[in-house]
Amino acid sequence: MNILITGATGYIGSHIALVLIHKGYNVVLYDNLSNSNHNVNTALKIITGKIIPFIHGDIRDTEKLVEILVDYKIDAVVHLAGKKAVNESIQKPIYYYENNVAGSISLLKAIEKVNLKKVVFSSSATVYGNPQYLPIDEKHSTNPTNPYGQSKLQIENILFDYTKSEQNFGVACLRYFNPVGAHQSGLIGENPKGIPNNLMPYICQVATGKLPYLKIFGNDYNTHDGTGVRDYIHVMDIAEGHLAALNLIENTKGWHTINLGSGQGYSVLEVLITFEQTSNKFIPYKIENRRPGDIDICFAKTEKAEKILKWKAKRTLNDMCWSTWNFHLQSFVNNN
Ligand code: NAD
Ligand code: UFG
Repeated sequence: MNILITGATGYIGSHIALVLIHKGYNVVLYDNLSNSNHNVNTALKIITGKIIPFIHGDIRDTEKLVEILVDYKIDAVVHLAGKKAVNESIQKPIYYYENNVAGSISLLKAIEKVNLKKVVFSSSATVYGNPQYLPIDEKHSTNPTNPYGQSKLQIENILFDYTKSEQNFGVACLRYFNPVGAHQSGLIGENPKGIPNNLMPYICQVATGKLPYLKIFGNDYNTHDGTGVRDYIHVMDIAEGHLAALNLIENTKGWHTINLGSGQGYSVLEVLITFEQTSNKFIPYKIENRRPGDIDICFAKTEKAEKILKWKAKRTLNDMCWSTWNFHLQSFVNNN
C-alpha cells in the first residue's frame, strides 16, 4: 500500500513513517519544513536502511499534491501537516485557519480530484475543551477554547461532511491526548524551536542546563498533589495507532472518531520525579502561578480504540521519560 504522509518530517509524522515502513508500506514524505528539518529524512534512512521519497511542499499547493498522488499511486493519506502552538494561534488566528483549515481543504480537493478514498487525520483532545466528565470519551461535547483547537474541529467537520457526500470514503479521525517520548534509536524525537511550551521538552532543557529550573504552573489544582494531571502517551504508541487506523479504513468505510490516549493520568510532579529517576538528573523547580487556560485533569476513555482499532497504548511513563532523555543525549552527541 502506498501512503502519503503530510507533516511527515515533524515530531509525530516521522515516528509514523518509521512504523509504516517497518510494516512494509511504501511511504512518501511531504512537508514544507516550517517546523521541521530535512535531517529527519536522513535519520529515517539510517534507521530503516531505505531511501524514502521526500517532497518539499505545502499542503496549500493543490496542484503539486495532485501530481504526487498520481505519480506515487497513493492509496491513503495520513494527514498531520499543521501548526500546533496554542498561544501562537491566539496571536495569529488567520494564519492558523489559513494554514490548517485552508490547507486541509486544498488537500481534500486533490484527494477528490484523483478519487482517493482513505484518510487518517491527526486531531487533538483539545477539541473537547474543558472536560465535563472524566474519562473523556468520543461522545463528549466539543468546545475548543482557542483558534488552534477550533481549526482542528473545523477540519474534522469538513472531513465529516465530505465523508457523507462521497460513497466509499473512509476517515479515521484520531484525537491525540499528550504525545511524548521518542523512538528508541534516539535519532528522531521532539525538538521544538525556542523555549518549549510543553512540559516534557521543558524538563529536558532543564536537565541539559539550557534552562535553570522548571516552572510548575500551579500546585492548587483539584488533583492528588495539586499539580495538573494529563494523559501522556508514548509517540510510538501513537504511531502504532495509525497503523491500526490504516487497517481499519482499508476494510471499513465511513467516519470514525477515536481517542488515542493511554487512559492514565499523571501529575506534573509525577512526570518530574519519573524523569529524574530515569535520567539520573536533578530537575530544580519552582511553583508559579497557574497558566491561563489550563485545566485540573484530562485523560481519555480508551475503550473505543481497543474495540475498533484493536490497539492499546502499552508503553509506560518510564519509557516516555527514558526515550525523551535518550533522544536529547543523542542530539547532544551528534551536534557537538
Ligand atoms: P510538528 O510541528 O512537529 O509537525 C507538523 C509538521 O507539519 C511540521 O513538520 C511542519 O513543517 C509541517 N507543516 C505545517 N504546515 C504545513 C503546510 N502548510 N504544508 C506542509 N507541511 C506543513 O507537530 P507534531 O507534534 O508532529 O504534530 C503533528 C500533528 O498532530 C499536527 O496536526 C498537530 O496538530 C497534531 N497533534 C499534535 C499534538 C502534540 O502534542 N504534539 C497533540 C494533538 C494533535
Ligand atoms: N506545565 C508546567 N510547566 C511547563 C509546561 C507545562 O507546569 O513549563 C504543566 C501544565 O500546566 C499542564 C501540564 O504541565 O498541567 C501539561 O502541559 P503541556 O503544555 O505539556 O500540555 P497541555 O495538556 O497543556 O496541552 C497539550 C498540547 C495541546 C493539546 C493538548 C491536548 O500542547 O496542543 O495537550 O492534546 F491540545
